[in-house]
Amino acid sequence: MSPSLLRFFLLALTLTVFSAAFSNPLPCTGQCHDAHDPSLIRRTSDGKYYRFATGGGISIHTASTITGPWANAGTVLTKGSSINSPGAGDAWAPDVKYVEGTYYLYYAVSSFGTQQSAIGVATSTSMDTGTWTDHGSTSVTSKTGDEYNAIDPNLIQVGGTNYLAFGSFWGDIFLTTLSSNLESWLGAKPIQIELNATTPRPSEGAYIYHTGSYYYLFFSSGSCCGYDTSRPTPGNEYKIMVCRSKTVTGGYVDKNGVSCTSSGGTLVLGSHGNVYGPGGQGIYDDPVQGSVLYYHYVDTNIGYSDGDKVLGVNKINWSTGWPVV
Ligand SMILES: *[C@@H]1O[C@H](CO)[C@@H](O)[C@H](O)[C@H]1NC(C)=O
Ligand SMILES: *[C@@H]1O[C@H](CO)[C@@H](O)[C@H](O)[C@H]1NC(C)=O
Repeated sequence: MSPSLLRFFLLALTLTVFSAAFSNPLPCTGQCHDAHDPSLIRRTSDGKYYRFATGGGISIHTASTITGPWANAGTVLTKGSSINSPGAGDAWAPDVKYVEGTYYLYYAVSSFGTQQSAIGVATSTSMDTGTWTDHGSTSVTSKTGDEYNAIDPNLIQVGGTNYLAFGSFWGDIFLTTLSSNLESWLGAKPIQIELNATTPRPSEGAYIYHTGSYYYLFFSSGSCCGYDTSRPTPGNEYKIMVCRSKTVTGGYVDKNGVSCTSSGGTLVLGSHGNVYGPGGQGIYDDPVQGSVLYYHYVDTNIGYSDGDKVLGVNKINWSTGWPVV
């Protein structure tokens, strides 16, 4: 084989290895766009899938399977959030959990790049448009100069305690606790559980998931939005990272043992093929597909605007103790 042919084969092999590092998302059908910062859940009464996402008072889409066919089913906050703050008409980053007969949907009210933010909550027993009651702010809020930005909520219940993870840039990801009715802050000072010390400290979208003997802290790292008007330098677009800990309240480390509060984080899913900027993720235990990572991404064959972002679903292999997609 000539040296140039050998080089060609080595290059082809390298490209194959790199592009094979992540599986493509499972094929999605129906209305898969409008999926920015998705939260997925099945209705307990009939197994119908609900997808909530950023945009127009939190959009609702429903489907018969996790991969579709998805159809538009309205809005959660039909009149906007009752939180009296800029951005109330365009709530962000929903997180939905089912607790004893009620669906709790946490959302954020803010405006891009500011710390004037609040985490709100709405409840419903069916999740359909028109059935949501907005309870307004949980009192988990932030203002200019605070250590954190109170957006991107995520609830996890551990041994009777309601933990709320949140945060975005500034001091990155924090954890605090909510009252037993799940609607208000207990007042405990939030603790930092993740920090990327490198400017601009681009971590957000926390999602904590418990499996085996660990709590896994997933987060989105990089620049989330507006790729149609200004694209970040390659590698600085959204990607999905993870750290893990034996306790929910901290001690999160990455696969190399680097603390998540010292800029640690192991890559779970980054741009590949026609998948660009995956993030806004969550984990779901699907009765058909098993444990899945779901997220939004730009399909480079479709479009780079925030409204174009589509739902991605990948099966997770947990066999090594670290999520592999
Ligand atoms: C931390 O931020 C830097 C700068 O944006 C980025 O290059 C790096 O990948 C981030 N690290 C993690 C663990 O997300
Ligand atoms: C999960 O990953 C392990 C280790 O890489 C591999 O041996 C196993 O076949 C994978 N399981 C599935 C279902 O792909």
